[in-house]
Amino acid sequence: MSTATASTAVLGIETSCDETGVAVYDLASGLRSHALYSQIALHAEYGGVVPELASRDHVRKLLPLIRQTLAEAGLGVADLDGVAYTAGPGLVGALLVGAGVARALAWALDVPAIGVHHMEGHLLAPLMEDATLKPPFVALLVSGGHTQLIAVKAIGDYELLGETLDDAAGEAFDKTAKMMGLPYPGGPQLAKLAEQGRPGAYKFSRPMTDRPGLDFSFSGLKTQVLLAWQKSDKSDATRADIARGFEDAVVDTLAIKCERALEAAGCDTLIVAGGVGANVRLRAKLQAQAEKRGGRVCFPRPVFCTDNGAMIAYAGALRLAAGQRDDVKVDVRPRWDMATLPSLAKQKEHSA
Ligand code: KG4
Ligand code: ZN
Repeated sequence: MSTATASTAVLGIETSCDETGVAVYDLASGLRSHALYSQIALHAEYGGVVPELASRDHVRKLLPLIRQTLAEAGLGVADLDGVAYTAGPGLVGALLVGAGVARALAWALDVPAIGVHHMEGHLLAPLMEDATLKPPFVALLVSGGHTQLIAVKAIGDYELLGETLDDAAGEAFDKTAKMMGLPYPGGPQLAKLAEQGRPGAYKFSRPMTDRPGLDFSFSGLKTQVLLAWQKSDKSDATRADIARGFEDAVVDTLAIKCERALEAAGCDTLIVAGGVGANVRLRAKLQAQAEKRGGRVCFPRPVFCTDNGAMIAYAGALRLAAGQRDDVKVDVRPRWDMATLPSLAKQKEHSA
């Protein structure tokens, strides 16, 4: 007798910041389709995300993107079994657009809807890409708003091991890039420029690695880079050297703390998620470290490291399959502690 998971197509909607992401995930057949609309061009002239413009653009783009995603999956709205949306953390107006559409759609179709924690979406993205990956493991969450090391005992059972005391890793990339005159969004631009820089030409500190603990601090590093940049000849070659020095400092710092966190958790599997997880040098460093320790490191494809609808559809599908339901009110949480999420280990077991 087959024990295959019943087909349940879940629509995922991500609108927490400057990307409109939509996807359909089916626990039986995997990712059916996904589409992303980036607002980079809209915010570029302001040098950063303008929340009100972000909300308005989600309003413009979300419904066409849902139609496109369903068409690509070969589905109609009536085929949906559930709707998942990012309920937080994020920009409140942007979150409300996704939540309002998701709730209205679920209510009209009489299917359950669920508000997903954006960082849990990121955290589970590597599992969406690799069905053999199961907790326990340590997760490094590195995005524009978060830098956290988390011991994952089960899906939904998250213990914070360490986090940044000031800037997030992605934020440090973005601010450093801006300081050196690179266009928004700076992180990927700075990483690209660093490829041309000479390693060791500029050596910045690896903050908080000279003492025990799993917390991070990146704001001092940003200041070191600013001073080096101000004193420099500001040529393109120097900019690339400084970018390389900065990137190496962030990558080394993250890598050192990952090893410590694995040791503290008694674990040899690391997963990496969030936008900075797309960084090529970070991926290579953590890969080399895993080989050395005889363990594993898992990343989603770069497209699923940065914000996307697929991770929300996937996280929502898992929670809906475990029987979790939210009531009908449109509820978003600009700030939301992931440790407060219910553990799926205690709910109906799902065998993906
Ligand atoms: O997860 P994400 O798309 O959005 C948030 O939830 O914040 O992460 C965006 C962050 C930005 O700070 C961006 O600069 C950074 O990820 N990022 C990168 C790279 N790609 C994106 N940082 C370093 N290297 C990259 N290749
Ligand atoms: Zn994100």
